[in-house]
Amino acid sequence: MRHVLVAGGAGFIGSNFVHYLFGKETPPSRITVLDKLTYAGNRSNLAKWENDPGFCFIQGDIRDPKASGEALQGVDAVVNFAAETHVDRSIYGATDFINTDVLGTYILMEEARKNGIKRFLQVSTDEVYGSIEQGSANEEAPLNPSSPYAASKAGGDLIALAYHKTHGLDVVITRCTNNYGPYQYPEKLIPLFITNALTERSLPLYGDGGNVRDWIYVEDHCRAIDLVLEKGESGGIYNVGGGQERNNVQVTHGILDLLEKPKSLITPVKDRPAHDRRYAVDDKKIRAMGFKPSVTFEEGLAKTCHWYQEHRDWWLRIRERDSEFKRFYELHYNNRETS
Ligand code: NAD
Ligand code: TYD
Repeated sequence: MRHVLVAGGAGFIGSNFVHYLFGKETPPSRITVLDKLTYAGNRSNLAKWENDPGFCFIQGDIRDPKASGEALQGVDAVVNFAAETHVDRSIYGATDFINTDVLGTYILMEEARKNGIKRFLQVSTDEVYGSIEQGSANEEAPLNPSSPYAASKAGGDLIALAYHKTHGLDVVITRCTNNYGPYQYPEKLIPLFITNALTERSLPLYGDGGNVRDWIYVEDHCRAIDLVLEKGESGGIYNVGGGQERNNVQVTHGILDLLEKPKSLITPVKDRPAHDRRYAVDDKKIRAMGFKPSVTFEEGLAKTCHWYQEHRDWWLRIRERDSEFKRFYELHYNNRETS
């Protein structure tokens, strides 16, 4: 089977994807991970494979042509997860987002072209479509990003499509909804609220808590990526939905109920600027290929709460010993309460 390069493979979805690939009946012959190990990357997520002869970890930046070029040697297919990913961080400053999500995507893709890589899957997001108040966005919907994060991801998508059209690079793009599950750095809604609740801290709910996201369990997303990698049409874009829309109040109540913590932990805070009200994708195209998410939100949330309860060391190391976590938490949440 193939040699797959997983860029950004030490992050949340990337590390789950590596576990998913190795767990397949016929795993790839080799998996190389190229990851810069930013604040969000964690090599220990991949500890299980460190001594596996089919695994290779390279610490490096996708913006560095030399690191990217070297990582691509002997590779058949690339899956690019590497990105700056937190909307709130992109509001304070977008330089790293544009550098990695746009420029980095370009450099990795250019190196892939030079090295004759057979297939390049760019992992994108439904956030490129912007807020969808009603109905759902299909793959032809206009790009209408609201945050610098989403705009950077849209830039990466456009570079990928241009490389397909101009250079004939075999590119596929997936645009998935919100993921949750094990190994998610505790800054996004679900892991932040679980770990805050487990340490009796307040849960900072933005605005009226009525914003809606369509949640997908990370393993289902990994399966969708693998399907598109194997069977997607060159140049094709594939939306991936979870079919599990919930608003933030519902998600928060779900977490507190599972952890048996009081609702009084919920603290309304100032809303996020340009906060997208709702994300929803039309994912008929990938469903026609046989994909269907297998985990309901209630099952997935229970599994996720359980994982964080069982892996306290993993997230306490980040929350208590990582100065970057503390710096951003104070910057973003101090003095944000509205009542
Ligand atoms: P994450 O922040 O957990 O991980 C990102 C990884 O990329 C980290 O390991 C980091 O070290 C690495 N990285 C960052 N900059 C790099 C660079 N310049 N060179 C090499 N490595 C670099 O992110 P995630 O939530 O796992 O998201 C992965 C991908 O999936 C992203 O492209 C994101 O846009 C997309 N996505 C995420 C979601 C979600 O809900 N989390 C939904 C849809 C799409
Ligand atoms: P997030 O996990 O940051 O993902 P997205 O990229 O979809 O914004 O946020 C999910 C939802 O949760 C979004 O509507 C913003 C909201 N939210 C809060 O209410 N409080 C928080 O502290 C965070 C991080 C998010």
